[in-house]
Amino acid sequence: MAENKRFEIAPSILAADFSRLGEEIKSVEPEVKMIHVDVMDGHYVPNITIGVPVIQSIRKITALVFDVHLMVVDPIPFVIPFSEAGSDIITLHVETLEDPNIGIDLIHSLGKRAGLSVHPDTPVEALFPYLKKLDTVLIMSVHPGFGGQDFMPEALERVSSVHRELERIGGHALISVDGGITASNARSIIDAGANVLVVGSSIFGTEDPLKAVTELKKCVM
Ligand code: DX5
Ligand code: ZN
Repeated sequence: MAENKRFEIAPSILAADFSRLGEEIKSVEPEVKMIHVDVMDGHYVPNITIGVPVIQSIRKITALVFDVHLMVVDPIPFVIPFSEAGSDIITLHVETLEDPNIGIDLIHSLGKRAGLSVHPDTPVEALFPYLKKLDTVLIMSVHPGFGGQDFMPEALERVSSVHRELERIGGHALISVDGGITASNARSIIDAGANVLVVGSSIFGTEDPLKAVTELKKCVM
């Protein structure tokens, strides 16, 4: 088993009931430190989801860390608005950036944590030049765009590969994995070297989201 001193579950609100979004977030608050927010523009991915006003609203009802995952073709102009709306971590896709350093440095200049994500079709090595300065790495384990898809098993080797590279360079970035995570595969993802499991359907798609979080934690411990 890969050595992991800590791991977290980050519920993805994409699977929540948006008519009760505040309640849904509050329901998992006792067991999590972080909420994952999927921002999609209908261009980088074939779906449109959440924007700045939603983040401003939910910022008022919780102090949880917001990990805002920007799946948009041109994310740089949106970094400041999403930062001001209350994001704590801003995660950009490496494929959407001409020079990822510009995005990472901008996020850091705003006092926020910077993340870089990688699409399943992009070699994971595309992240390597930036690992040292990143706070988080988000490895997609489904094709981004929709919740409720099946986990791609090849993501496990990609997680291990990033884990090994981080060890080699002494990087401090957390490894998050996003998409298709369930009680059946959570353990294997942590064993591969992940620190954060982003989970939508297996939490907010259930009757009792808080219980789902505690069950997921039990699978991993
Ligand atoms: C997919 C999103 C994920 C999604 C995960 O593009 O980035 O965060 O919400 O949802 P599940 O857990 O249902 O795969
Ligand atoms: Zn996501």
